Formats: sequence, C-alpha cells, structure tokens
Amino acid sequence: MMKKTIRAGIVGSGFSASFHFEAVQKVYGTNIEVVGVYSIDTEGGKAYARKRDIRFFDNLDALLDEVDVVHVCVPPVAHEPVSVAGLKRDKFVICEKPLTGYFGDGTEGFHGDRFPKQNALDAALASVEQILEAERQSKGRLLYAENWVYAPAIQKEREIIEKTGAQVLWIHAEEAHSGSHSREYAFWKFCGGGTLIGKGCHPLSAALYLKRVEGRSRDGVPIRPKTVSARTHAITRLENFRDEGHIRCNYHDIDDLAHMHVEFTDGTVADVFASDIVLGGIHNWLEVCANNHRAVCNINPNTSMQTYNPVEENFEDIYVVEKIGTKQGWAPTAPDEDWITGYPQEAEAFYQTIAYGQPAESDSLLAADSISTIYSAYVSAERKGTAVDVRTFEE
Ligand SMILES: NC(=O)c1ccc[n+]([C@@H]2O[C@H](COP(=O)([O-])OP(=O)(O)OC[C@H]3O[C@@H](n4cnc5c(N)ncnc54)[C@H](O)[C@@H]3O)[C@@H](O)[C@H]2O)c1
Repeated sequence: MMKKTIRAGIVGSGFSASFHFEAVQKVYGTNIEVVGVYSIDTEGGKAYARKRDIRFFDNLDALLDEVDVVHVCVPPVAHEPVSVAGLKRDKFVICEKPLTGYFGDGTEGFHGDRFPKQNALDAALASVEQILEAERQSKGRLLYAENWVYAPAIQKEREIIEKTGAQVLWIHAEEAHSGSHSREYAFWKFCGGGTLIGKGCHPLSAALYLKRVEGRSRDGVPIRPKTVSARTHAITRLENFRDEGHIRCNYHDIDDLAHMHVEFTDGTVADVFASDIVLGGIHNWLEVCANNHRAVCNINPNTSMQTYNPVEENFEDIYVVEKIGTKQGWAPTAPDEDWITGYPQEAEAFYQTIAYGQPAESDSLLAADSISTIYSAYVSAERKGTAVDVRTFEE
C-alpha cells in the first residue's frame, strides 16, 4: 500500500514539543511532513523551528491553514482553546495530558486551597463538553496523548487481558518523582491543580484504559469509573518541612501528594498514587491483580539495564534516567527511555488513525473519564475522602 503523507504542525515550543517532534521522526507507517510550529514564545518558537528546519508561524490560524493535524504541546490552561480551534477547522488534534481542567476564577487572589472544589468539577466538565462537542461537529478527531496507554508494558497487559478473558479485580499504580521542572507547575491557575492531576492522570488513565479493554473484549461494553475517594496533601508546604535541597518545595497553591481510590461500575477497584516528594528518579508502575494472572508493569525504573559508576563526573555527558539525583553508584540506566515510556508507539498509532482511520486506543472519551474522575477526586479530598460519584460522558 502506498504510504499517505500527512502534514503536521506543533503548537508550543517547550519540553513536550521536543519529544513530540522526536517521536514523529520515528513514525514508519505514514509519511509525515512537519510543516512548522506556533508558540506564544516568539523567540523560543523561532529557535525551535531553526533547530529542526521547519517554519515558525506567529499565529495559530496561519499554522492551521497548512496542516492536517496539530500537536497541542502547551500548558493545560491552553488545551481547550487550541484543541477546539483545530477541531473547528476539521483538523486532527493530538492533545497532551491532562485534556483540560479548571484554572481559577481569574482574580488576583485566587488560591488553590481556598475555593469550593465543586466549582472546579463543574467548570472542568463544561470544558470537556466544549471539546467533545467540537469533536462531534468536526471531520477531525481528538487523540489523547496519554503515553502510558502506549507504553509497551501496558500494551502487553492489554493483550493478556484480551486473550485470556481476565477479570481485573484490583489495579494499583503510581507516578512519582521529586518535582516538575516547569515554573508554571507551582500554580493551580496554570495547571488546574497539583500532583493529583499533573501526575495522577497517567496511572489513572492507564487503569481506566485497562478496565475499558476488559469490558469491551469480554462483553462489548467498556467498564467505566463509578465513584472516587481521595486525599490530597501539601507536604512540602508544611511549616515543619525540612528542605535539604533534594525535593522541589516552592509550590504556591497545589498538592504534592495524592491518593485516589476508584470504584468501577463492576464493583472492582483501582488505587492510584501521585506525588512530587519521592527521591531516586521517576517512579512509574502499574500492577494488575486479576482472577487468572498478576502483572507488574514497570515503566520506570526497570531492570533492562543497570550501570555502576564509581565517579559522578565520568557520566557527566551520559543521560541516565529521568529525575535521577546522582549518577554515581548503581543506577537503573534507561537505554531507550522514550520507547519504554510509549512516545514513539503513541505517534505511530495516532498517525495510523489520521492516515488510515484506525480506531484510537487513547481517545477523547478516555481523556474525559480521566478529567471527570480527577475533579471528583478533588471534591472528595475536600470532604476528607468521602466517596463522590463520577459523571461519565456518553459513548
Ligand atoms: N506525557 C508526558 O510525559 C508529558 C511530559 C511533560 C509535559 N506534558 C504535558 O505537555 C504540556 C506542555 O508541557 P511542557 O512541559 O511542554 O511545558 P513547557 O513550559 O516546556 O512548554 C509549553 C510551551 O507552550 C507555549 N505556550 C504557552 N501557551 C501557549 C498558547 N496559548 N499558544 C501557543 N503556545 C503556548 C510556551 O511558550 C512553551 O513554548 C502540558 O499539558 C504537560 O502536562 C506531558
């Protein structure tokens, strides 16, 4: 079959815009022409474009004129407007996580600790609805860039569930490290919350995905979230937190430790942890306890390679693994971190959808369930863990 050619645009020129570009270079089933980038950071955007020999666009519409798909690699607060603009122009949209959220009331004094979380849930669901409605009216589709869905360990578990007809009884999973790099991350108004959404969305979405796979493969109907109970904490904002310089601790108004307990429509459960207070490099894992097997998916760290380095400086130019504090001694060195994280597989799959109409594993409904669960979890945390019903959107 002749490979189709798809024209792609990138929106944003920061961290995720870089790994999206890398992932697109590895796609083999579709020819992709990355036309250009639009970023509100003109200087950064021009530098990004120069380095990759693509064009810089100084407005979104001009980029949309020339492409079939846009990669939304901007902070969460801008996901809805950029995605809706793309869908309205009948473009495909690859949107980074989290899909959307609640970013405050715009007042100077807005503080994440001091507003009713029901407001956040209502506003986040309204924002999800805007995106879903734009998608319904569009010839394009929204593809949700949740790389955990495409991580090889999670896709292997999908195969096991599908082929063995497993009943998944309990999932526990975590994403944690010692603090995000982004300056905006300290503020609820830019990110829509703290670690519960920023990190929790990854293991949560993978758990929601696997239950969806289970239901679809056995009964033709996805199993979806029903209630959530949660606690959130701001450990590094405690007055008695003792900063030794290893854990980021300049957060303005967000949580840095969170736990969600999700009950599904079939009565089974998932426990999801998210935190910014864990040393030793990124800690991303998901464990499935099923009626016929058990699986531990180690996304990071894993033992595909381990190195011992007696002198820190020897590894000065060596990338070891995300967020590791030292390169001296034994380390779980990642020979190909992008691959184990699922970035190239995600890009390959999305371009199969865009070019050839393959159904997407990670779509807008999975993203919507994730947002609905997370903001219901914030309501629960405000009530010190009382279970809250999760509203799901129509299939
Ligand atoms: N899947 C993952 O593993 C992963 C990892 C990191 C970040 N992310 C997600 O990627 C998104 C971006 O995060 P990042 O780390 O790349 O942030 P970043 O700060 O490094 O980059 C954001 C870029 O967007 C630009 N920008 C901001 N608002 C814009 C707008 N309205 N229009 C156009 N450009 C705009 C900024 O100038 C900047 O270039 C977030 O949603 C984040 O959650 C995902």
